[in-house]
Amino acid sequence: MYNIAIISGDGIGREVMEASEYLLNKLDLNFNFNYGEAGFDCFNKNGTTLPEETIKIAKSSDATLFGASTSTPGQPSPIINLRKELDVYANLRPIKSYKGIKSIKDNIDFIIVRENTEGLYSQIEYGDSEKVIAERVITRKASEKISEMAFKLASRRKKQNKVTCVHKSNVLKKTDGVFKESFYNVAEKYPQINTEDFYVDATAMYLITNPENFDVIVSTNLFGDILSDESAGLVGGLGLAPSGNIGDKYGLFEPVHGSAPDIAGKRISNPCSMILSTAMMLDYLGEKEIASKINCAVENVVAKGKVLTPDLGGKAKTMDMAEAIVSEVIQC
Ligand code: NAI
Ligand code: MG
Repeated sequence: MYNIAIISGDGIGREVMEASEYLLNKLDLNFNFNYGEAGFDCFNKNGTTLPEETIKIAKSSDATLFGASTSTPGQPSPIINLRKELDVYANLRPIKSYKGIKSIKDNIDFIIVRENTEGLYSQIEYGDSEKVIAERVITRKASEKISEMAFKLASRRKKQNKVTCVHKSNVLKKTDGVFKESFYNVAEKYPQINTEDFYVDATAMYLITNPENFDVIVSTNLFGDILSDESAGLVGGLGLAPSGNIGDKYGLFEPVHGSAPDIAGKRISNPCSMILSTAMMLDYLGEKEIASKINCAVENVVAKGKVLTPDLGGKAKTMDMAEAIVSEVIQC
């Protein structure tokens, strides 16, 4: 029996979470769902975007699934604060090309390892109406921890066994100086893994010109966030981009996308990012076989091209695609 915290949030967060719960309930495993509130609607109801009760639920569960939440003016981001609360310092964002989906190249397979607790997302901003300052906090400890995670991952991946450090140390000399230095310090422990480092602006271009050359990319919080949306765009969009937030104690799994107010309520959101994030959660929980079956099911449904949501060029509703994926799990 696994205790899973379910935090749907709002917008399409609710729709894609419904798809994940539907899938989990069809598996040959037992789950107990603990529901927590967060986000915009939660703020309107409770005066906070992330109630203490929700944090408690996440901390007392074996893993957490998060949908998406619309930003609330003047309020902190619930997902950023939840990541901090759980100290899930590594945000893992796998990117791969899918058969049947238009992709910039057809042999893309890399993972972005984004530092999740500091950088420009420290949410420390101050100033007056004339001048405002945001603190970009980079610590050696967090930089070494995230590099360690990237090298560990690279040593488990078949591909090229390479880690690319992405930074802007020519301008952000102190902060990214520490980040890059920490990366190369950790690299010494992994002589079998190749290393390289690029500036973030050049990386944004290489992702388009040579995305197949990347294996593991490690970067700071904001750069990792931007590059992961760009990367999702290379392989079919945010509907196919899952993520896992991992720390020493907790795991929090969520799609890369947000609450998509432009399509929310129409029930046409692509459930794959949430379903693939759910597979990442099952893998984290040790259910490797069922996790890979879910990945295979998504690949098959997408390759067949019969039941696709509009973002992938089809006409299916969220739950139609979820049902097609569940039927495919049995065959995988
Ligand atoms: P978004 O990711 O919500 O949407 C960007 C575009 O991708 C939209 O055109 C949307 O329709 C499309 N899209 C995203 N997910 C999709 C899916 N599953 N299926 C089909 N199409 C999909 O980003 P946006 O528009 O910048 O932000 C909307 C709201 O979400 C904002 O309030 C933002 O602050 C919040 N947000 C929340 C996040 C979270 O909760 N983790 C992450 C990113 C944004
Ligand atoms: Mg983002």
